[in-house]
Amino acid sequence: MQQSEQEQQKEQKITQNEIPDLIINPYEVVNNSKKQIDYDKLIQSFGCQRIEQNHLERIQALTQKPVHHYLRRGIFFSHRDLNQVLDAYEAGKGFYLYTGRGPSGDSMHVGHLMPFIFTKYLQEAFDVPVVIELSDDEKFFHKSETTLEEYQRYGYENAKDIIACGFDVNKTFIFLSSKYAGHMYHNICKFQHAITYSQLRGIFGLNESDNCGKVAYPAVQAAPSLSSSFRHIFGKDEVMCLVPQGIDQDPYFRMTRDVCYKLKVPKTGCIHSQFLPGLHGFGTKMGTTDPTSAIFLTDSPKEIEEKIKKHALSGGGMTKKEHQEKGADLTVDVPYHYLRFFLEDDARLEEIRVQYGKGVMMTSEVKKELITVLTKIITEHQQRRALVTDEMVQKFMELRPLSNYPPKKNN
Ligand code: TRP
Repeated sequence: MQQSEQEQQKEQKITQNEIPDLIINPYEVVNNSKKQIDYDKLIQSFGCQRIEQNHLERIQALTQKPVHHYLRRGIFFSHRDLNQVLDAYEAGKGFYLYTGRGPSGDSMHVGHLMPFIFTKYLQEAFDVPVVIELSDDEKFFHKSETTLEEYQRYGYENAKDIIACGFDVNKTFIFLSSKYAGHMYHNICKFQHAITYSQLRGIFGLNESDNCGKVAYPAVQAAPSLSSSFRHIFGKDEVMCLVPQGIDQDPYFRMTRDVCYKLKVPKTGCIHSQFLPGLHGFGTKMGTTDPTSAIFLTDSPKEIEEKIKKHALSGGGMTKKEHQEKGADLTVDVPYHYLRFFLEDDARLEEIRVQYGKGVMMTSEVKKELITVLTKIITEHQQRRALVTDEMVQKFMELRPLSNYPPKKNN
């Protein structure tokens, strides 16, 4: 089950990717190429594994449910030790899911929801516990735009959006790292003990003038990967952990896994997603500095419509004639790409791919379809979020056992 020393070293050495026009790390995602990121190259460079058809079949067989369209379409495309996690599940030992978010005061956009939508699907499909870290400390150290207290407040607000994704309060534990860290400090110490400053510098690009919090924090993101960080859920059991995450977070978990090896505990499993690009095109990002770059969870139907109509980059022909002759360039087309993320109906998506690609369908029609799909998702999210009270947030954050651990026999 454990990797050989050689593989171990390989994993340690690969800290940065060497792909031109592409920077990916927890603090920076920059794609200067205008096209979809070459995720195959990224897998190679990071040393992770592609999710293959056999994984999908195995997940489907174990959960007795069709796999999520994020898996079917390769949006969650890469992993580390997924099979080991599934082995543990199959053997009746169960596993748990761990994910997180660095809270911010800016409104969240649709891209932020992806790891949570996916984690919620996994929680339902496997019926396993979920722990969610709100890393207010991380944002305080790295962004330093406001006080720690303010980042804590953002954490509670962001928790409402996360809860609105539909997590079951009896099966989910949400925590702010600045409040919960004491309970997992024994594991934080073990990580801090096992990692040198020069390793950290290699992975995260830190230097002498960075505040000490940036050096100390990676252990705080690593510690929730060990079940002994949650005694109120797992008691003394050693339970495997699977971390759904954007691939930019992988450096944290590469580091985590190296230390797991040293501590002789099972390595944390990872499952990585691609990025949702900004509306302006593949090389662009979503952010509050340019509100037209993204669909936010607070947008009204009118705003959604306008943004997509006016700002979503089209790969269609310049003129109707050209479009009908050449078809749309789907490798740069944002509306089509967004439909891959948000339109669940495989048959309809395929129809659009073919018809739009041939130039039979026009950009305006594709956009219209995207507007319908996104408006529904966002309005429903807003309705659920409006029902989340402060008391509910407190409930999710209470230290308590979760109803689906230990796992029931014969699952
Ligand atoms: N570092 C993540 C961010 O900046 C937040 C985070 C904390 C996280 N723990 C995590 C993300 C575990 C994925 C998995 O948003």
